[in-house]
Amino acid sequence: RARTHISALPQEVMVRLFRYLGPEDLCRCSQVCHAWAEVVKTGLLWRHLYPVRWARGDYYRGPPGEPDQDPDEDWVQNLQEEGRAYQEWDEDADVDESEEACEDTLAISAVRKEKKLLNGMIQNLLPAVGSSVRTLSLAYSAAVSSKMVRQILNLCPNLIHLDLTQTDVTDSAFESWAELGACRTLEHLDLSGCEKITDYTLKILSLGLGDLTTPRLSKNSPDCKNKLLKTPPSAIKLLDKHSGYSLGRARTALVFKWRPGGRSMSCSPVWVLDPAELADIEDAADWTRREGVGGHNEERSGILGVQAGGRSCCCRMMRSFRTDIGSTYLQQLYGTLGEMQCGHSACCGSDTALRTVKGAQCEPQATGGNTELWTKCPSEGESRTDQSGACRALRFLSLSGCYQITDFGLRCLSQAGGLPLLEHLNLSGCLFITEVGLHELVSVCPSLKDEHFYYCDNINGPHADRASGCQNLQCGFRVCCRSGE
Ligand code: FES
Repeated sequence: RARTHISALPQEVMVRLFRYLGPEDLCRCSQVCHAWAEVVKTGLLWRHLYPVRWARGDYYRGPPGEPDQDPDEDWVQNLQEEGRAYQEWDEDADVDESEEACEDTLAISAVRKEKKLLNGMIQNLLPAVGSSVRTLSLAYSAAVSSKMVRQILNLCPNLIHLDLTQTDVTDSAFESWAELGACRTLEHLDLSGCEKITDYTLKILSLGLGDLTTPRLSKNSPDCKNKLLKTPPSAIKLLDKHSGYSLGRARTALVFKWRPGGRSMSCSPVWVLDPAELADIEDAADWTRREGVGGHNEERSGILGVQAGGRSCCCRMMRSFRTDIGSTYLQQLYGTLGEMQCGHSACCGSDTALRTVKGAQCEPQATGGNTELWTKCPSEGESRTDQSGACRALRFLSLSGCYQITDFGLRCLSQAGGLPLLEHLNLSGCLFITEVGLHELVSVCPSLKDEHFYYCDNINGPHADRASGCQNLQCGFRVCCRSGE
């Protein structure tokens, strides 16, 4: 009787079998032989990633649960305690490097395991399957850093669901979104409790989501065909071959010089240093920016002081906070973001405010009178190159406890076509936003549901009688203007 060895099974069958296995077993299988290791690198097997759970022995790998489903309280508390223990150990480690000191501490070892797992994913798994990943949950991770998130987002350009709840990430984690237009598929973004996030992230997010107001070319339109024909084949080859990921610290950009006559176009590859990569050493870019925000830059604060004028909404807001810290923060933030105005229609005028925000350019696109076209390198050749259309598909956005967010950030989101599909918006604990920013954003979110709309109870904002109010009143660890009352 003839027998067939498992190694003789076709790869498709092996993938089917491997779909019954969890991440831990898949890792073991990848160590069996080269052929199995290749099968394990099939994107289909790694659609939903939960490294924080996996590091603690929970190998769930299905789709995420309902957005309104609260996580288990004990689970969250445990993770927070682990995080605190790890931070204390990490700080002490500068003085006492002996690893034996924490050998018996389960909490610390869990976080260390998580960190190891994240590093392993970034180095070994995601370069192979990143473009297939749809869900990434790093909620309550004490091990993840902004640099790690940035690397992961670079490697996973087609994410639909991203949960970074209660992590220590900063704005620098999201640099790649605007540069590569890599979050166009994003539908769910949870940044609850990410206190270091500022308007800068919202600006980048808005750029990355694309611009609905830019006319789209149909595939068959003569203009589109012309554009495709004008893209030299060698350019496409070069993009695939030299994706920024394999090179790590540099990305490839192609600069097309388009002569007005339209008869010839020269294409030359150039290396551009990604400013975000300067942050690789201790997230230096973030600190540089933060220095601008929190430092004492007289020139920057001066700019807004002139633009906002004595009767601006910013001034009203600053007065309402009655704190020097609040007003200095806002003034310096607008200066740091490179905007001359605060972004509020009430004081800047709807025609002028924030008109400098432009959509990310993911395809060759004319940039004005100089007729210079340029495009940046996508990754892995999947979907991003042909996703020319923006859909701004965000349905869920939580910025609960991101207290540094201001009307400027909200206005960035309301630009470029708004968020037409947004149903859930949580702005609890966003202390610097006002009814002006809220009204403006809500006016471009036609799908927003009142029962899923949360903001500070002290603001007389849109849908005040039907919206759900602040969610952080009873929460002991998220910012709320009434905490302690
Ligand atoms: Fe004002 Fe919570 S932030 S009530």
